[in-house]
Amino acid sequence: MRLKVLITREVFDEVLEYLSQYFEVTSNQSDIPMNPETLAMRLSDKQGALITLSDRIDTALLSRCPNLKAVCNIAVGYNNIDLEACTKAKVMATNTPGVLDDTTGDFTWALILATTRRLTEAEAYLRADQWDGWKLKQFLGLDVHHATLGIFGLGRIGQVVARRAVGFEMKVIYHDIRQAAPEIEQMCRASFVNKDELLAQSDIVTLHVPYSSATHHLIGKQELEKMKPTAILINASRGGVVDDAALIAALHSGIIAGAGLDVFENEPKLNPGFLELKNVVLAPHIASSSKATRFKMAMLAAQNLVAVLTTGHPPNLLNPF
Ligand code: DGY
Repeated sequence: MRLKVLITREVFDEVLEYLSQYFEVTSNQSDIPMNPETLAMRLSDKQGALITLSDRIDTALLSRCPNLKAVCNIAVGYNNIDLEACTKAKVMATNTPGVLDDTTGDFTWALILATTRRLTEAEAYLRADQWDGWKLKQFLGLDVHHATLGIFGLGRIGQVVARRAVGFEMKVIYHDIRQAAPEIEQMCRASFVNKDELLAQSDIVTLHVPYSSATHHLIGKQELEKMKPTAILINASRGGVVDDAALIAALHSGIIAGAGLDVFENEPKLNPGFLELKNVVLAPHIASSSKATRFKMAMLAAQNLVAVLTTGHPPNLLNPF
């Protein structure tokens, strides 16, 4: 008898074909998001699942899926999975590290440049047919070259962002729970500072930490008040790392100059306060979304699923037991 797996959202045909060689596959190619009840029902007779960051895997769900052995996230972040609950239920959880670092780093730079140079605001002005000619003081922005870039989290993606700063001849500082090895600091030309120093010195603050209770609202009212009024904040990590309400208030009152955001609290719902602001660049969680990278992410997740259910040794196991 073939093992049964569920693919919770639309994937590339090649991924579907690959998994179909091994398993009886049920897939959601119509891409209709499943609520927790539907997910539990559809997973109740499955041995494995290829999931995305909008699927919550917790005790309540696991208790209804007695045959489940594998939950394989198509994402490097895994705050949607309760690892402890998975371990208790003897379910292996996996993610997709490594394959999306460059693409996510590139997009971080897209946000940095669009925000500092007010690109989306300027485009909206043009599209609204408001342009009546060149003006000396039109859409004055912030220079990226020679500015100070402050990186929270010098992990794989933070390092990519730092390395790309060389071309802009920037000073790079970073903060993390622990200082990086000297060779990494050297490669990134980045100096370790404490949190307050990073906030006070940076012209651009960019976040590259995983979301957890330790990083919940890492940037809130107090932190925003420590930033320069000319500075901008970039978040392509996870919603919840920033207190969105505090950020909206800071952008309104000029506590900081702007923000570029790919992620939000309560995605896909957006705090309507953001839509009233001109000094924020908004994207719908697409930092890793190049065709090549999203394909690699889905294929790696599928390979993890095959490995859990065939050998028991997936390449990217999050909860060894
Ligand atoms: C990740 O891999 O965690 C990304 O946020 C998915 O887009």
